[in-house]
Amino acid sequence: MSDVVRLGLAGVGTVGSSLLRMIERHGNDLAVRCGAPIAVSGVSVRDRQKDRGVDLSHVSWFDDPVELARDPGNDIFVELIGGAGGIALESIKAALAAGKHIVTANKALLAEHGTALARQAEDAGVSLNFEAAAAGGIPIIKTLREALAGNTVTRVYGILNGTCNYILTRMEREGMAFDECLQIAQQLGYAEADPTFDVEGYDAAHKLALLTAISFGTEIDAEAIYVEGISSITPADIEAADELGYRIRLLGVACRTESGIEQRVHPTMVPKASAIARIDGVTNAVAVEADFVGQLVLSGPGAGGDATASSVMSDIADIARGDRVGTFGRPIESLQPYRQAAIRLHEGGYYIRLSVFDRPGAFAAIARRMAEENISLESIVQRRRAPRSTAPEHPAPDDPQPVILITYETTENAIRRALESISQDGHIADTPQMIRIEQFG
Ligand SMILES: NC(=O)c1ccc[n+]([C@@H]2O[C@H](COP(=O)([O-])OP(=O)(O)OC[C@H]3O[C@@H](n4cnc5c(N)ncnc54)[C@H](OP(=O)(O)O)[C@@H]3O)[C@@H](O)[C@H]2O)c1
Repeated sequence: MSDVVRLGLAGVGTVGSSLLRMIERHGNDLAVRCGAPIAVSGVSVRDRQKDRGVDLSHVSWFDDPVELARDPGNDIFVELIGGAGGIALESIKAALAAGKHIVTANKALLAEHGTALARQAEDAGVSLNFEAAAAGGIPIIKTLREALAGNTVTRVYGILNGTCNYILTRMEREGMAFDECLQIAQQLGYAEADPTFDVEGYDAAHKLALLTAISFGTEIDAEAIYVEGISSITPADIEAADELGYRIRLLGVACRTESGIEQRVHPTMVPKASAIARIDGVTNAVAVEADFVGQLVLSGPGAGGDATASSVMSDIADIARGDRVGTFGRPIESLQPYRQAAIRLHEGGYYIRLSVFDRPGAFAAIARRMAEENISLESIVQRRRAPRSTAPEHPAPDDPQPVILITYETTENAIRRALESISQDGHIADTPQMIRIEQFG
């Protein structure tokens, strides 16, 4: 590398412009820490006229990010465009072919192409660093890849999407419905106009896929992740969780099991006293359980230009100092093909909310279906709802009443079969709500 570490910056949006401000503000200190000054030599954006609040008078402009990637005037290609394929992928491939180090914050792209790109980087003898891709400003990649090198990780889990955590926290504090909280999140800029990617769990799944590969030394397989979002969570679920001593959080969980690696993203009831339950608002957290260190929890901003740029710079500084670690902390040949553990084998307790028609025999039938699957119930709570159709003292037999069941540990298979039979018996209105309960420290 030359005396100056020259960056080719593709994308000067939220993260890219924060990165430029950081270099402006901390340039001298960065030069000392990295052993050489860090300078942006070229940028690529769509619209050159846009004011980005930073001085770009001294840099070369490239309309095509692929040209920037090939340009010999930069040593590190920093991809901050986004998107699972397209120009982001094309330009990273071009930079690797030109022997450049890569820094990217692009989880969508890595979840799909990460293993292949890591192989290409290793063949080219360059770094492919992605600290910002997994949880914004939280240095979880470095922690897993380097600091925990002497451990076997048994479980990694976390709150990986700030939008969902913000919505769940407001639902909990103010008793509001999901739609109402989503609207507020959109007004505050915490949720996109089309929130599907966040609230249905896909964004968290991309991040989990990366954490799994590093934690367990497997190839990335985002497709294999079981994904459920938070849009079906109601104030009644939040209230019941509170009464039972739990909070509901959207968690990404990956753990080693006898049948393979389990990866799942879904709403989870976690004990109020656990570290993960106390993570509120847009904050993210990642917990790691490993044999020698025990449990670690890292929390902080999972998004935002400045926090994300902080992680991007950490990757740049590593490359500038000559610190090279394999993309997933080990040679690519040593990665194992991903062996999926079926989510249906997941064992744990469950919260089930049913709308049960107020008829004789309904309870007995539900209890019988549970017993048929060897599911033991820890508690059954019937909540009286004001009847819709008659005077309060004479509820119509067909007015469904909310009933909450808490099970002891059982398998997902057993729960699904029992709920299917209960639905077929015709004693319940609506689809049953089912939320997994996990015991975390
Ligand atoms: N924002 C966050 O909080 C956050 C957190 C973690 C990770 N990330 C990841 O960081 C990456 C960047 O996110 P961001 O929020 O900074 O995105 P952004 O604000 O939308 O910025 C994207 C930048 O890419 C440029 N661009 C788009 N298409 C281009 C093309 N064909 N040629 C050249 N430039 C092009 C845009 O140019 P114009 O400015 O001219 O439109 C813009 O400067 C994404 O992968 C994202 O997932 C973001």
